Amino acid sequence: MAINYDDARSRDMIEIRPCEGFDELEACVQLQIETWGYDDSDVIPRKTFLVAQSIGGQVIGAFDTEIPGGSAKSLVGFVFSLPGVKTNSGKPHPYLHSHMLAVKDAYQNRGLGRELKLKQRREALTRGIRHIEWTFDPLEIKNAFLNIRRLGAIVRSYRPDFYGVSSSRLQGGLPTDRLVAEWLLDSHRVESVLAGQPAVKYEITKRIEVPASIYEWKSSDAGKERALAIQSENRSQFQEAFSNGLAVLGFTRDSEGNGVFELGSATQVLQGIDYAN
Ligand SMILES: CC(C)(COP(=O)(O)OP(=O)(O)OC[C@H]1O[C@@H](n2cnc3c(N)ncnc32)[C@H](O)[C@@H]1OP(=O)(O)O)[C@@H](O)C(=O)NCCC(=O)NCCS
Repeated sequence: MAINYDDARSRDMIEIRPCEGFDELEACVQLQIETWGYDDSDVIPRKTFLVAQSIGGQVIGAFDTEIPGGSAKSLVGFVFSLPGVKTNSGKPHPYLHSHMLAVKDAYQNRGLGRELKLKQRREALTRGIRHIEWTFDPLEIKNAFLNIRRLGAIVRSYRPDFYGVSSSRLQGGLPTDRLVAEWLLDSHRVESVLAGQPAVKYEITKRIEVPASIYEWKSSDAGKERALAIQSENRSQFQEAFSNGLAVLGFTRDSEGNGVFELGSATQVLQGIDYAN
């Protein structure tokens, strides 16, 4: 399958396009280390980025074209995905597993993370791929907001301690529990969210809360026990809800930064989407 990227710019001076050549891929590796603080055992090397690109995955970068010194120096964000196949409806269908999304600190909260995901979606759809998945930490309120509220992903499964021990500084030494975000690229839900149309009204039957203080608790020895307690309490709640056919359909945050996952019957979104069942 030929990859067909266009040259969309997210905003002035930022160019979003596939990474090319060893230096740009190496810049992704370095941004990965800067973002997560990984040690050698966790870092994904340049070679894997290269292989992913050549087998139908994506390495898409955000470049600040005002930074001098060549394109590799101007990389300020990237998104990385691997190709996969699902057979859950009895018929194999291709999808992408998006493994990493990172934006440099100084460039965050300007819509770049969202733009990288949108580019990823457009590129997938040009190849007939209608489904992208990724995992995210249920304690990361910002990521949940971006994934559910701004991109329209849903969640139906919970992976306790998915990666085992991680050297990521963002993990704070906690078990690597993850939610699986499912992005049904051409579904009515996703198209409405991306078009900024009023949110589809779902019947919400359960809410799971994450306090804003979780960031502070995770990063201090004194708070670690509290963070762990929230993680295990929420883990039980998610697992029970998912086993009862619920899905995360909404996410809200209040003025103090607390987050709330909103869950309701998954059928409200999945009706008519054969590849997701
Ligand atoms: C996740 C990440 C890529 C997002 O990039 P970004 O460029 O900041 O994302 P965007 O600006 O497109 O969107 C972020 C949204 O979250 C909102 N947000 C910011 N802080 C928040 C918080 N504490 N709680 C809730 N929402 C928050 C922003 O307001 C924005 O929403 P808006 O567009 O409605 O204003 C970036 O934060 C990052 O690199 N994080 C570290 C690595 C990581 O966790 N990657 C994801 C898992 S692989």
